[in-house]
Amino acid sequence: MSENNDLLNKIISNLEYQKQVFGDNYYSEKVEIPIREISTENSEKIEEPVEVEVPVPAFSIQEEEMPKKSTIDTDWKNSKELNVLYDKIHNCLECELGQTRNEFVFGSGNPNADLLIIGEAPGADEDKQGLPFVGRAGQLLTKIIEAINFTRDDVYIANIIKCRPPNNRRPKTDEVEKCEPYLQKQIELIDPKFILALGKTAIDTLLKKDHTMRDIRGEFIDYNGRKLMVTYHPAALLRNPNWKRPVWEDVKKLRAAYDEIVGKE
Ligand code: URA
Repeated sequence: MSENNDLLNKIISNLEYQKQVFGDNYYSEKVEIPIREISTENSEKIEEPVEVEVPVPAFSIQEEEMPKKSTIDTDWKNSKELNVLYDKIHNCLECELGQTRNEFVFGSGNPNADLLIIGEAPGADEDKQGLPFVGRAGQLLTKIIEAINFTRDDVYIANIIKCRPPNNRRPKTDEVEKCEPYLQKQIELIDPKFILALGKTAIDTLLKKDHTMRDIRGEFIDYNGRKLMVTYHPAALLRNPNWKRPVWEDVKKLRAAYDEIVGKE
């Protein structure tokens, strides 16, 4: 009996050691438990090493810890419609953000919009709901859109990157490089006449240059035949309400140009 207990204790301490060193990944091997005493027929005691196969422990890898697998369709560049593009790319794992996101935030609104609004990256609310600009900054953006007599369904809203960076940090260069082609494909399919870029990440990514917001906001820039304007990001307005006035001036100017080119609704 005490022999069995000894054996059991050795197995348990081996498993505990494994768990300490390797976490929940279990590496199976034959464990040689050094010596045990056995009785022979003539009651002579001899010593013999014993090999035991350690059972697979209950703390095997949990499913949620398994890395997600990418099922991106490499043919996505040939998509002819936004919903087809979404189907082909929404399981993307081309950068590390795919491992931590809840939802791939593709974009929302009118797929034929003449105004495309581009932000930076999804935040916590967007990551939960799978929709762009639905948190506090999003509510302010909705008010800005409505202030120039559009609804969110008149325009299309997307971001430079589709997955939430942890703790809302700025997107890294490699994340932008991997994700921007999806946005470019969206621009091609939506084919908007106007683009409103919100904040520095959006404009620096689109124009491939470092800009000072103060110098560049509110002016129309030619962007492959489309009219591109940048203004302050609504999250920046929440921190600095003094910027609400210039944003109002910018979007009024945008609406006037839109009416001239697209025509009043
Ligand atoms: N900020 C962004 O840039 N995009 C969102 O979707 C939400 C907040």
